[in-house]
Amino acid sequence: MTGLRIFSGRSNRGLAERIAEYLGLPLGRTQLDDFPDGEISLKLLDDVRGCDAFIVQSTCPPGNKHLMELLIFIDCLKRASAKRITAVIPYFGYARQDRKDEGRVPITAKLVANLLTTAGANRVLTLDLHAHQIQGFFDIPVDNLSAEPVLSAHIGTLDLGPLTLVSPDVGNVKRARVYANHLGGDLAIIDKRRISGSETQSMAIIGDVQDKTVLMVDDIIATGGTIAQGCTIVRKYGAKRVIVAATHGVLCGPAVERLSGAPLDHLAVTDTIPTCDEAHRQLTKLTILSVCELMGEAIRRIHRNESVSSLFMS
Ligand code: R5P
Repeated sequence: MTGLRIFSGRSNRGLAERIAEYLGLPLGRTQLDDFPDGEISLKLLDDVRGCDAFIVQSTCPPGNKHLMELLIFIDCLKRASAKRITAVIPYFGYARQDRKDEGRVPITAKLVANLLTTAGANRVLTLDLHAHQIQGFFDIPVDNLSAEPVLSAHIGTLDLGPLTLVSPDVGNVKRARVYANHLGGDLAIIDKRRISGSETQSMAIIGDVQDKTVLMVDDIIATGGTIAQGCTIVRKYGAKRVIVAATHGVLCGPAVERLSGAPLDHLAVTDTIPTCDEAHRQLTKLTILSVCELMGEAIRRIHRNESVSSLFMS
């Protein structure tokens, strides 16, 4: 893979190392630090002139810092004459504000798209964007992979029995249908209302979960409110067993407390965001699956100008 260079920001170096290992390449060498006033300082220690450069950075909390670091990285690669720069963003933050559904609010997903392009990104590779239409906020190619094959392969090893796929809100129905197509089972939807950034109210369930194993799927677990309430509702309506699969374990604020108190049997997330030791200690039912092979394979194919569409499962 001549000319391919892979770099990592500081948000998820573990995943970047696993991706580089899959590709059989070392991570590019950098001097990445903070100035005394908190500004980010970066110097590339490898020559990237004419290279196909990939920078791996999730814009997970602290999102502002990780986003700025990604922009600075892209600018640095551009000024060092990389031929093509791909922003590899396993978790794309600021994606949930993707439309103006009330007055006087920003569309942060579009703002981030503009910032990445202005900084010099030529392509974006990401995973389970909060909404597919965010791809249209960019005028550069965006490959939006799905973690469903990774999560489904793991869930398929569990003893499932009669299964119902549950979407914890209307936004995840399509996602639940993709899992149902691969694992089998019926579909049910929870009627969720969002009260604030950290508070949701799950009202009722449309569909049958009585005596079933429930697999509840979501793209993001942030404060854990959606999933904890969803688990309570499906148990109330007679679910025998509750399994939760989510791509991005943001796990902020009261998430660990909420999830450890939720009536769930198994929780699986991917490694798009590093999970802190405290969450590992408290969430005994948590399994973390790596998307390194999926993302590494996509990088290999992009570099070789091969199709990545067979990696898209949604
Ligand atoms: C909402 O549209 C998303 O798909 C997730 O359900 C939501 O972001 C989860 O947030 P929280 O864990 O804070 O309820």
